[in-house]
Amino acid sequence: MVNDLGHEENGASAPPNMHPSFLKVIDQKRRIKEKLSKIKHKIGIYSAKGGVGKTTIAINVAYTLMKQGFKVGLLDADIDCPNITMFLGITDKMDPHAPLKPIEKNGVKVASTAMLVDELKRPIIWRGPIITKMLGDFFEYTDWGELDYLIIDLSPGTSDAPLTIMQLLNLDGFIIVTNPQKIACVNSVRSGLMAKRLGANIIGVIENMSDGRPSKNTIDAVEALKTELLGTIELNNTFNEYSDSGIVPVLEDERTYLSFDGIIKKILPNSKFDPEAVQAGNI
Ligand SMILES: Nc1ncnc2c1ncn2[C@@H]1O[C@H](COP(=O)(O)OP(=O)(O)OP(=O)(O)O)[C@@H](O)[C@H]1O
Ligand SMILES: [Mg+2]
Repeated sequence: MVNDLGHEENGASAPPNMHPSFLKVIDQKRRIKEKLSKIKHKIGIYSAKGGVGKTTIAINVAYTLMKQGFKVGLLDADIDCPNITMFLGITDKMDPHAPLKPIEKNGVKVASTAMLVDELKRPIIWRGPIITKMLGDFFEYTDWGELDYLIIDLSPGTSDAPLTIMQLLNLDGFIIVTNPQKIACVNSVRSGLMAKRLGANIIGVIENMSDGRPSKNTIDAVEALKTELLGTIELNNTFNEYSDSGIVPVLEDERTYLSFDGIIKKILPNSKFDPEAVQAGNI
């Protein structure tokens, strides 16, 4: 059976009377699945609310995993404002001919549409169908090779871009990012419920820009989503200086690394992943 977003269920094939546009999506989904088949775990970092720290969390989760010996990729799937290259100080461009090769930075493979666009300041104005096509092609033609984890930074909102990602990528699940404010938490519930409605797994919630104790708003959001709080990341003004200089906080600052390490420890059992086996080279 195929659900209303073209996800195949129970391994059965699409019914013969299906609209050609759905068949095209299913076909591309199959090709993307094959392309990503050497990636053990794919985790999306998401929130409907902008500016809560999705990109910051995605980068630091990726580099924490890398520090622990995993092979990690970081996919900037925010095609409106692809910021990861700037956060990491990457100025290299990818060869635009398929297969697209991610650029390695300090041990993590990174791919972003910003690596395909020349002028950083030029606004990228893409409408629905083009967004879907652009993201689909980007996923299909990027060659990640073997990875333990692919961390995917999503754009904010509940419209085309995040929907396309949920539709095209079979993710292990999403980490929802919020800040302690009510408005962010209400929107994080909205994001999580949308992902759940599309059949996605919610791995948990991270409270970013925290004072160290989760706010009542965050606790309510975690309960509403029937998930768990993975941890809090404190409001830390040096993050802005770091990101302006292309420095990754967890590679620079032990205290921040330990906060992310606590989060990773909660993620690993969720993804049924055995880090010891990987580090021993058995996987
Ligand atoms: N814990 C933190 N303490 C202080 N500043 C932070 C923290 N986390 C993120 N920031 C800063 O907040 C700003 C927004 O962060 P970021 O770009 O990661 O958010 P985002 O959710 O990805 O935004 P968008 O929705 O636009 O993609 C950045 O300037 C970043 O450096
Ligand atoms: Mg972002």
